[in-house]
Amino acid sequence: MKICTSLPRSLANGAKPEAAMATVTLGGLALRAHRTPVQEPLPDHYFQATDEETQAAIATARAALGSRVVILGHHYQRDEIIRWADYTGDSYKLAQHAAARPDAEFIVFCGVHFMAESADILSADHQKVILPNMTAGCSMADMADIYQVRDCWEQLTAVVSEPILPITYMNSAANLKAFVGERGGAVCTSSNAAAALRWAFERAPKVLFFPDQHLGRNTGWKMGIPLEEMVLWDPDQLLGGCTSEQLQRARLILWKGHCSVHNRFTLAQVQEARARYPDIRILVHPECTLDVVQAADEVGSTEQIIRAIESSPPGTKWAVGTEINLVNRLAQRHPEQLIFCLDPVVCPCSTMYRIHPAYLRWVLENLLEGRVVNQIVVPAEIRHWARVALDRMLAIR
Ligand code: 13P
Ligand code: SF4
Repeated sequence: MKICTSLPRSLANGAKPEAAMATVTLGGLALRAHRTPVQEPLPDHYFQATDEETQAAIATARAALGSRVVILGHHYQRDEIIRWADYTGDSYKLAQHAAARPDAEFIVFCGVHFMAESADILSADHQKVILPNMTAGCSMADMADIYQVRDCWEQLTAVVSEPILPITYMNSAANLKAFVGERGGAVCTSSNAAAALRWAFERAPKVLFFPDQHLGRNTGWKMGIPLEEMVLWDPDQLLGGCTSEQLQRARLILWKGHCSVHNRFTLAQVQEARARYPDIRILVHPECTLDVVQAADEVGSTEQIIRAIESSPPGTKWAVGTEINLVNRLAQRHPEQLIFCLDPVVCPCSTMYRIHPAYLRWVLENLLEGRVVNQIVVPAEIRHWARVALDRMLAIR
């Protein structure tokens, strides 16, 4: 499949994307106010340049900046960005890299907003973290905000008699990471969710897991928690749409959030792939729904998906349930294996895709001229507890 790499003018001008949500609770009613992330418009010549000119300009700026800058690239970034990354990785590995390069003055994070926030929290005080396009967010992360989570916590602690520990997925805003840190909880990623849940259950009989219900449910199910002991918390309903008895009985309370990319994979697609290639291996990300995960041969984070393929012999056949930029790259790098996307109507992560090479060029050229644009700064009052939650994540084995 060919993905269009031209820069839509609407994005170049900083128009639009999905609005982030702020919720105000008034007498039990959740009122949502939308606020749109702001991206300064790029000068015209950035989107008039050809792909070759853009790549050449990135090369020049990158070389001139030398070791002052480190570029991190998430696996869902397009090839034209990945080629410039000093380090690639899943969310966990990139968080480790952000903490491990104090020599670099600037960390240019080619990923999405919550990843850049975490890098800012984990990096040294003198370092500046830059997100090339401020509108590169995550629709799943936007499904839980601090007002909703506080409201949920108040309701839960009022009706549940046992202690609860909150765990937030890395795909969440920094203030939610601070929320869990302050209450004894931790952050987890898709590569250490089982260890994080085990860690949490050693400390409390109940866990509130947000914002991805699927990662929470899949991990709980793999750990042997019966589905009857998991409930879904809908932030738009009183008591999350549960009865107080259900909440008393539940061990795992799952926030009603999901990833729109991974929700596209279905059991029917797994069955079709198996019918077409009887020896196919189904390899999916844990943000997929439980039926897909149960039908898969292997489940793992983006880094674990890459490792599974890299360690397989020639001739192995894979149907992969994750974002298309990564699947296409794996197929190109491993022509000795058959690798295709489980979903025939592939859907890229539209927010990851907002890191167009023109934005990378723009931030690097600004740095060369002594201007720091698109710096991600987590406010001091959030930093401390968010760091505590992230440090717990990095320490959990
Ligand atoms: P990984 O941590 O597996 O890279 O996942 C991040 C993500 O956003 C998946 O949708
Ligand atoms: Fe968020 Fe899904 Fe995109 Fe990952 S793939 S960044 S969870 S929207």
